[in-house]
Amino acid sequence: MATTLRERYVPKSVNPMRMDPPGTVTSMPSPNRMHHLHIFSDENYDAMVTFYQRLFNAEIVAVNEEMGPPLTFLTYDDHDHRVVIIKKPGWGAKPENKVGVSHLAFCYASLGELIYVYKRMKEWGYPPPHWTVNHGNSTSFYYTDPDGNEVETMLDNYSTLDTQTYKRHYQFTEEFGPMREGNFDPDKMVELYESGVPESILLDREEVRRMVREGTL
Ligand SMILES: [Fe+2]
Repeated sequence: MATTLRERYVPKSVNPMRMDPPGTVTSMPSPNRMHHLHIFSDENYDAMVTFYQRLFNAEIVAVNEEMGPPLTFLTYDDHDHRVVIIKKPGWGAKPENKVGVSHLAFCYASLGELIYVYKRMKEWGYPPPHWTVNHGNSTSFYYTDPDGNEVETMLDNYSTLDTQTYKRHYQFTEEFGPMREGNFDPDKMVELYESGVPESILLDREEVRRMVREGTL
């Protein structure tokens, strides 16, 4: 019977995704996925933890206070952590108009999921997304966390390679038109979705522009 934590929780042997013998990696690799987001916070630390717990339907895997101010590790899938919030006492608020990461975007599987998240965040009393737009390639809702970081929840409107072709050759052309014409009212989007208007309409930028012009979206 296992008696130590190591015996209980640590696998007998490491087991990485792949083991490449020396000399077999012969070209520059790219990452295979993004793993986690690491955020410093101060006065809003608790609100930040709650925000990401709610937005991502995440759970707290560990809280580490060994080094003083706490770090909270959250996950929303089988990875050990996806978001870490680190308390930095005395660091104050995030300055405005600074260069650096502008936002991270998280893919969802369907418009129904994006809408569900939108409705829940609204019920919890968070400010509405500051931008909701059909970019053509994606349908995106942009939230702001309690410290002022932007988080995009999005859905690819086409298969991934089709969205890449869309961006390379179409998105910023005259034919595409001004990006702002894809801006929509999220509450009207919820209404249309719940009244049964199909995704073939609601995710199509041309249809979105038309409905926005007509005032229905
Ligand atoms: Fe984005």
